Amino acid sequence: MDRLKFLKKFKTFDEWYEIVKDILNDEEFLKRKKFKHHGEVSVYEHCCLVSLKSYALAKKLHADSRTAAIAGLLHDFYPKAWVDSEELKELDPEYSSQLNKKLPLWKMHGFVHAKEACLNYQKFYPHLVDKKVTNAIKRHMFPLNIVPPRYIESWIITIVDKECSTKDVIHIKGMPKKLVIWFIKLFK
Ligand SMILES: [Fe+2]
Ligand SMILES: [Fe+2]
Repeated sequence: MDRLKFLKKFKTFDEWYEIVKDILNDEEFLKRKKFKHHGEVSVYEHCCLVSLKSYALAKKLHADSRTAAIAGLLHDFYPKAWVDSEELKELDPEYSSQLNKKLPLWKMHGFVHAKEACLNYQKFYPHLVDKKVTNAIKRHMFPLNIVPPRYIESWIITIVDKECSTKDVIHIKGMPKKLVIWFIKLFK
């Protein structure tokens, strides 16, 4: 699993992998290795980390850990890339067709990708459609998207996603590092 080798140090790796292996090895999901997400981190890497951490937290909280694993993996399964990269050229141009479009604020990635990811997971993995998974994906951008998550599993995805995203962006040049470190410490 190339850059994901570090996930194996998590105690819950093997049981998590059993739940998500079909998605991880699915052709459409594998394309997310070519989608850049935050800096050098791909959508594939980001989603794996959110999924595994959410799974572990859900277990600790006696919540539905299977739902947390699946929703964590698919929470950013939006259909078109939002960051340009060399790797994208290996995919159908449809995946990068929105990159150079000027969009109004409310149609920009941060505001719309949760809903898009939700529709996309229903399209590619209809056998996984479930009200908790749907809610977790659709509401993970709270509070930017103003409707809050409904279930504990949805809250877990929302919080773990913010923790992982904050750690990703600290490596991006020009980020105000003190602010990012302060935010990360909120989760300690
Ligand atoms: Fe997201
Ligand atoms: Fe995310």
